[in-house]
Amino acid sequence: MTAYDVESGDQVHPGKPVTVDRYTAGARVNHWITAISLVLLALSGLALFHPSLFFLTGLFGGGQWTRTIHPWIGVVLFVSFLGLFFRFWHANLWKAEDGTWLARLRDVIGGHEERLPEVGKYNAGQKVVFWSMSLLIIVLIVSGFLIWDQYFAPYSTIETKRIAVLVHALAAIAIICVWIVHVYAAIWVRGTIGAMTKGQVTGGWAWRHHRKWLRELVVGKK
Ligand code: HEM
Repeated sequence: MTAYDVESGDQVHPGKPVTVDRYTAGARVNHWITAISLVLLALSGLALFHPSLFFLTGLFGGGQWTRTIHPWIGVVLFVSFLGLFFRFWHANLWKAEDGTWLARLRDVIGGHEERLPEVGKYNAGQKVVFWSMSLLIIVLIVSGFLIWDQYFAPYSTIETKRIAVLVHALAAIAIICVWIVHVYAAIWVRGTIGAMTKGQVTGGWAWRHHRKWLRELVVGKK
């Protein structure tokens, strides 16, 4: 039986060093389309958020273009994230050891991973990021449609739109914060970026940070 967090394509290759396949090419392309969309959304959204940031509209060909393009990029992000969601939701299910991991965040930051439970494909921090992104993207797409007057103006009242604008801005600020945590963690844990660029990590990286997942892969190989 395959473990809950082993995804198709995950595989160990013996050698010096041992390498482990973590993401297929499809998953990586899917991820980077999502990442580029979110960066473009943050830039175009911030441009519309406050007059002091209006200069950012210059990146998109002016104010009107920014207003036109922003919701469409939102649709791209939503569809693209849906792809990531269906690829990764199973490996992000919450397990008993995740609570212990979170409770010992001090050891995570202090670099004492030996004091923590063995981690599957994703640690509790990654799971929190995953589910926060999923929830916030739903809030953003729903509130975004409510204020996309070009096509949907008649479908909601002005009062609803006022609430939607506020909710949209708050969710956007939240997802930018989650995104900063995600990128910071990806850089901070050395050897992680390669997972999303080359699709591979070293056996040492997997042993240190995701030992349960590595064990599952090795046992599966037998
Ligand atoms: C633009 C900068 C970004 C960088 C440098 C980056 C980097 C990475 C890296 C290195 C991983 C692999 C982590 C691992 O396997 O342990 C990863 C996974 C992932 N990334 Fe990103 N990412 C970025 C943006 C985004 C955005 C904008 C989203 C979604 C809105 C996103 C969603 C995900 C998801 C869902 C995973 C799988 C991990 C999980 O399910 O918990 N990433 N990213």
